[in-house]
Formats: sequence, structure tokens, C-alpha cells
Amino acid sequence: MKYYLVRAMFFLLVVTAVSGADDTGYLVGPTKPVLIAEGDDVILPCTLNNPNGNNNAFDQTVEWSRLDLNPKEVHLYRNIRDENADQNTNYKGRTSLFRDDLENGIISLKLSRVKLADTGNYTCSVPPLKTVIQLIVGAVSQPVISVVGPKDYDVVLKCVATFWTFKPDLTWLDSDGSILTEGPTEIQIDSEGRYTVRGEVTVQKTDKNMFTCRVNQQQINQMKKTEYNVPDAVFPMSRGQKAGIIIGVIIAVTILSVAGGVYMWRQKKQLKQQQEEQKKQLKQQQEEQNIHNVNPHMAELIQRVTKVIPITDELLQKGLIQEEDCSNVLFADASKDQMIMLYQVLDYRGPKAKSAFYRILKEKEPDIIRDLDVDFVDQNKDLFIQRVNDVNSISDELLQKGLIKKEDEDKIRAAETSQDQMTQLYQVLSDSGPDS
Ligand SMILES: *[C@@H]1O[C@H](CO)[C@@H](O)[C@H](O)[C@H]1NC(C)=O
Repeated sequence: MKYYLVRAMFFLLVVTAVSGADDTGYLVGPTKPVLIAEGDDVILPCTLNNPNGNNNAFDQTVEWSRLDLNPKEVHLYRNIRDENADQNTNYKGRTSLFRDDLENGIISLKLSRVKLADTGNYTCSVPPLKTVIQLIVGAVSQPVISVVGPKDYDVVLKCVATFWTFKPDLTWLDSDGSILTEGPTEIQIDSEGRYTVRGEVTVQKTDKNMFTCRVNQQQINQMKKTEYNVPDAVFPMSRGQKAGIIIGVIIAVTILSVAGGVYMWRQKKQLKQQQEEQKKQLKQQQEEQNIHNVNPHMAELIQRVTKVIPITDELLQKGLIQEEDCSNVLFADASKDQMIMLYQVLDYRGPKAKSAFYRILKEKEPDIIRDLDVDFVDQNKDLFIQRVNDVNSISDELLQKGLIKKEDEDKIRAAETSQDQMTQLYQVLSDSGPDS
């Protein structure tokens, strides 16, 4: 408001327009257009200037009008009051005079909330005196910011302000209000004389990443600002950040693989331990079974084993029996007697020796052992049915070795419990003969 008054005074003092040719006086208004932005309030300056010093307009008629409109009335003051019955509806409720200043010859019009349509030539009149004041209402708009894209490690922003009536200036600011060096600014003017300004800026990442595009127009005292917060993620990573991330990834991968390696190693170790444990158990079971086989079949083995000498030899070589044991066995003539001697030796040397004997015998005289095994399996039928769980893989192996037939295996598999399967397997085995 002050600004316009000051400017109005400037016009009154420096550039005056003289109207009304007679000696009684004249009206003074600005000779240059009054510029204002839409939405603002404006004062159209007009002053009565009488050479005789009587400038009192209080009891005179003051008329503001626009001759290009119909009705032309903008504001009418007559008989010491406003008479706006014939006022153009466009100005309804937006016009006023400075009542207290009328006696000093100030007949300026205040126009509130100006519209673009208010642009025009206003006649200020104290009949018969008159003068014309040109008003131009300027369109302004809020600038709009957008991200153009990354550039190296920075981000390029764009600001556009459209349809300004007067040529605007565009400035970029950071969050501290410091002016940023802007990129190319381009100004376009359309067929209706409206200006569009576009500006780019390259910004670096900051704490706040808040940037402002300021568009201002000095003539109409207009300034429009738009702030924009660039998300951190929009900024490309710097070389340092990239290196940091790569190092981080390498460290993470290293830690993971070391941890994984340790884990795998532990698992492997555990597995190995388990396997060894199982092996040990299996061996023990095997030995127990061997002993179990050797003991009750003493009579049969004595009858049947012929290669007593080589077996004894091997037992000696394995350190399971002693030299003196051998001489006892060798001393006997017939293999039966040798075998009796060997049994004594084995009893004396304990289960390990017995187990080894069984193994060696299996190598050297497999037929005997096979017969013993069949016996063993038959004798322990009930026990096996109760205790053997992995019937499927056993029957599988039998199938692969061609010892049972496919349909037999299917039968076994069809049984529900492992006990039933085992019973079925026994059935199949007894049908297929002793080799199985
Ligand atoms: C207003 O007056 C100016 C100057 O005299 C002139 O150039 C312009 O065309 C006029 N405008 C209208 C709308 O009559």
C-alpha cells in the first residue's frame, strides 16, 4: 500500500498530466500506466489542482469511470456521499475514495482485489475537469519445481513460472537463502504477450536438501516462491559412498562366508563324528553278531572248516592271536582237531579275535558262512520283524542284486508298518531260497 502511495507521489511530483484547459484548475494523475498484480489492492492517484488554491472536493462531484464499459460507472461521489446505484457490477464492493482527504483535493480511487479484467483506462473526473489513468493488472503464477534428473553426483532441478504479464526474474536459493548459481534461464512470450520463465539449477546434496525457486517482478512488486525438498534417494551416490558400500558388501560377504565356512566345517565335523560313531556301533554290532555266530555253531564249524591253517595265519598276522596259539593249532593233524584248538585259542583271546575269525572265514569259506547266515536269519525272525525299520532300502538292494523280483518288492512296499513289511520280506525270502 505504502509503495503505491510513494510511487503515486513520485508521479505527481515529477510527471504530471494536465487536464481541463480552463483557468479554474486541472486534475493530476500519473502519465505512465499503473501496474499491479492480480489480487492486490491498488490506488489510482488523482488530485485536484486549482490555481486559486481552492482544492476542496468534499462538496463536489467526483466520478471514476471506464468509457469502454457499459455501464461505464466505476465509482460516483455526489451530494457528499457515494452514489453507486449505476455502478458497473464488476466493481461492486471494491471501490472507495479517501473521504478525509477529499477536502485536500485528493480524489484517488482505491480498488481492492484487482482482477485481470480491471486492466483499462480510468477516467478521473471533477466535472468539467478530467484525466485518464491507465491501469494494467499483471497476471502472476506460482512457480513449479520438478526434478530433471541426476547429473554426476548432483541433481538438476527445473522451475517453471507461466503466464506472467510482465517479464519476471527467476532465482534459485538454498535452504539458507543463499543464491545458487543457476543454469540456463529461458523466457518465452506467447501471442497474448504473456511470459513464461524456465530455469534450471544443479544442486548438491545438503543436510536439508531444501531448495527454493523465486520468481519476482519488480514493476508489480510481485514475488512468488516455491520450495522443494529433494529426497536423499534422488542423489546419485558419490564415489566415496559407492566405495563405502562396496567395502561394506565385501566385509559382509567375508563375514558371512567365514561364518558359513565355520558352520559348514562344524557340520562336517559333526557329521563325520556321527558317521564314525555309527561305524563304530555298526562294527561293534557286527562283532557281536560274529561272535554270536561263532559260538553256537561250534560243532558245525568244526565239521566244515578246512582252511584252518591259513585262517590262523591271518589271525596271527593281524596280531589277534599269539605265536604260541598257532603252534597249538598247527600241532593238530586233522582240520577238525585244528578247529577245536582254534576255538580254544579264540575263547582265550576274546571277542575281537572271534570276530576277526568270522570275517576271515567269510572270505575264505563263504559257503559255510552263507549257510550260517541263513540259519541266523531264520532263527532271529521274530527279533528282526520287531526291530528292522528300514525294510524298503533292504528290499531295494535285494531287488538290485536280482535276489528278489520286482513284484515281491512291491508287495513289501505295500505293507503299512515296517513289521508287516518285514513279515512280507520273510515270505518272499522263503519262496526265493537260501541265497537271498
Ligand atoms: C488506454 O490508453 C492508452 C494510452 O492512451 C492506450 O494506448 C490504450 O490503448 C488505451 N487502452 C484502452 C483499453 O482503451
